[in-house]
Amino acid sequence: MIFYTDRLLLRPWREEDAEDLFTYASDPAVGPPAGWPPHESVEHSREIIRTVLSAPETYAVCRREDGRAIGSIGLHRNDIAEDEDEYELGYWIGRPFWGQGLIPEAARELLRHAFADLGMARIWCGHYDGNVKSRRVMEKLGFAYHHTTEGLEVSLLGEIRTGHVLLLTREAWDAAHFGLTE
Ligand SMILES: CC(C)(COP(=O)(O)OP(=O)(O)OC[C@H]1O[C@@H](n2cnc3c(N)ncnc32)[C@H](O)[C@@H]1OP(=O)(O)O)[C@@H](O)C(=O)NCCC(=O)NCCS
Repeated sequence: MIFYTDRLLLRPWREEDAEDLFTYASDPAVGPPAGWPPHESVEHSREIIRTVLSAPETYAVCRREDGRAIGSIGLHRNDIAEDEDEYELGYWIGRPFWGQGLIPEAARELLRHAFADLGMARIWCGHYDGNVKSRRVMEKLGFAYHHTTEGLEVSLLGEIRTGHVLLLTREAWDAAHFGLTE
């Protein structure tokens, strides 16, 4: 599936994106705040495309003008979102593109897809303590604080962190977009 927004297109990752992925995912400011280590080589990025970014509902965030990948966004089922009517939203974008509202733009389209096309009831979104940039994205999207967990094991980095989890329900999404009251 391909989604279009004003400035972006969201499409499945492909192995030819490995060089672009490496360009942005090798930056230590990108992966570690989200819990994964910087990519070490183009081959490493290709392997991540094959093994991680090939998951369902995972999309390359691409510039509309040339279709090149600059970030990633996806809906995942995991410890936070276990049931069939819920997903966790995850995202990142390359540092040169920060601060332009691009992830909020991509996320609004993916949330529309999750609620309207896939019939989800709840979308969760989590960030580690101190990741104020990601928290701002969630606030702009209408997520509400739900809970905090201390002592989270970040296995890929060998660290223990505190995580905060926010929730967006279909009722809150509909109320914000269609003026319906809960
Ligand atoms: C979090 C992230 C996805 C935000 O994406 P984005 O498209 O830049 O989102 P926005 O443009 O809405 O910016 C969000 C906030 O980041 C901060 N910010 C923006 N540009 C910045 C910059 N160049 N340097 C530092 N902070 C910046 C601002 O606080 C902004 O909030 P504001 O709009 O109220 O000013 C992006 O910073 C990123 O990929 N970070 C690393 C990976 C990560 O943390 N992923 C999320 C894991 S939970």
